[in-house]
This record gives sequence, structure tokens and C-alpha cells, in this order.
Amino acid sequence: MRTPTLACVPEGPVAVPDAVRRLAGDDAVTPVWRNVLGGLTFRISGPAAGSGQEAERFVKWVTAGTSGLDLDGEAERLAWAGAYVTVPTVLERGRDATGTWLATRALPGRSAVDPVWVARPAAAARAVGAGLRALHDALPVADCPFTWGAAERSARLSAAGRRDLGEVPAIDRLVVCHGDACAPNTLIDDDGTWSGHVDLAALGIADRWADLAVASMSLGWNYGDGYEAEFFDAYGITPDAERIAFYRRLFQLD
Ligand SMILES: Nc1ncnc2c1ncn2[C@@H]1O[C@H](COP(=O)(O)OP(=O)(O)O)[C@@H](O)[C@H]1O
Ligand SMILES: [Mg+2]
Repeated sequence: MRTPTLACVPEGPVAVPDAVRRLAGDDAVTPVWRNVLGGLTFRISGPAAGSGQEAERFVKWVTAGTSGLDLDGEAERLAWAGAYVTVPTVLERGRDATGTWLATRALPGRSAVDPVWVARPAAAARAVGAGLRALHDALPVADCPFTWGAAERSARLSAAGRRDLGEVPAIDRLVVCHGDACAPNTLIDDDGTWSGHVDLAALGIADRWADLAVASMSLGWNYGDGYEAEFFDAYGITPDAERIAFYRRLFQLD
């Protein structure tokens, strides 16, 4: 079972891979995130003018041999989605014997789980809801080459998992889902408006409840109970208990 709450800002020293050092040149490297599978994200910041480099960029790093993290698939999805919504622009991707990396241009705003937003959970929950709605409204299903449907995800489960999951509910509305709409993957501007989305490795066509169920659940991990109503209201939808329960089960089993 997934325990996404464990994804967090790394505590203590983090070894910076050689490839990330090389990408940084003389600029500062700060570890900002470690996910449940051990993948790391670093922020690189340096002087903007005249350096020929972006002032701020992010590098996701996956150590060789780690399964379940697909930076190539993420880069493809970022390139596709970037034509319609604000997502990171890919600057470079590569691999060596020790791992793979994906460097992107920094988006404006702070993660919805930055301390600034954890201190204002109702506003953050609204921004996450409005941001998800805008993403679903903007991405065209007809042009999307990626899928994230419940049937295909369920087919990858064990027989026991499929039994626990139960029947896939009828589709409410097919959209291009984010694929991991947890709160940390929405960025929010200082005025409380969502400013972009990150972490699109699983983006694909699915019922919108696949994202709604997970995004609303993640609010509890990051802000505590009591913010789901704000989220659903900002998205503009009435919670559907049955589909929410199904897609949360699928997320946990997946
Ligand atoms: N291009 C970017 N601009 C701004 N912040 C970013 C960018 N890329 C990553 N981040 C920050 O790093 C965090 C981790 O990146 P993410 O892609 O979500 O990795 P993971 O797959 O490990 O969750 C994000 O929650 C966000 O705060
Ligand atoms: Mg993330």
C-alpha cells in the first residue's frame, strides 16, 4: 500500500549525484524533496543575467535500479501538456551508470505544502481545487496520447487486489487527469492563485474522479481534516462518495 505522506522535504545531509553537480556548475544545489520511492528533487539557483543558464531550475533524480519512476514518460507528458497549461519546461534529461535525471525550468509560486500554505490551509485547498479544475478544462481529451483508465490500472493489480477494488464505476466525465493530483504537485502564487502543476508522470485520460478522489484525500495528509469541502467547492462539483471511495482504493492498491 502507498504511504504518500512519507514524501517530504529531506532532513539531514543528502548526497548530490555527480550529474546534478555538473548540471549546476557554479550554482547552488538544494535538495527540496524526497518521494516514497527514494527519488530526489534538487533546486539549482544562481545568477540570472549573462550566465546563459536559467536562474532557477529543478532536477529530478532517480538512482539506477529504482523501479516505478519513469522520468522519460514524465518528460513526454510535460512536453505534450505544456502546449495547454502551465507545467515545467524540460531543459535537459539524461542518464549515466548511476541514475537518470530530468531538469526543468522553475515555475512561479510555491508548492501547496510550503509552510506558507500549510499555515493557510483553507486558501491552499481552494487553490488546489481551482487549479485541478483549470487543468481538466484545458487539456484536450481528443488530442491526448496517454491513458490512465481505471480498467487498465486495475488489470495490473494482483487477483486479490482486483477483488478488494471491486467494480469500476461508470464514467462520470472523461478528462485528461493529472495522475498524481496530491497537494504538493500544485504550485500557488503569493496571492492565492494556483500558478502551475508539476509531477505529470502518470498524466492520462481517465474519469475526473480519479484525480478528485486523490487530491481531496491528500489534503488530510498535508493540512489535517476539514478542508475537502473548500476543495470541492473551488473545483465546482458535489462530492460523489461512491466514486471517491473507489478511486481512493485504486490509488492505494496501485
Ligand atoms: N519546475 C519546477 N518548478 C517549481 N517547483 C518544482 C519544479 N519541479 C519540481 N518542483 C518542486 O519539487 C517538488 C518535487 O517535484 P515532483 O515532480 O513533484 O517530484 P516527485 O515525483 O518526487 O513528487 C514539487 O512538489 C515542487 O515543489
Ligand atoms: Mg510530487
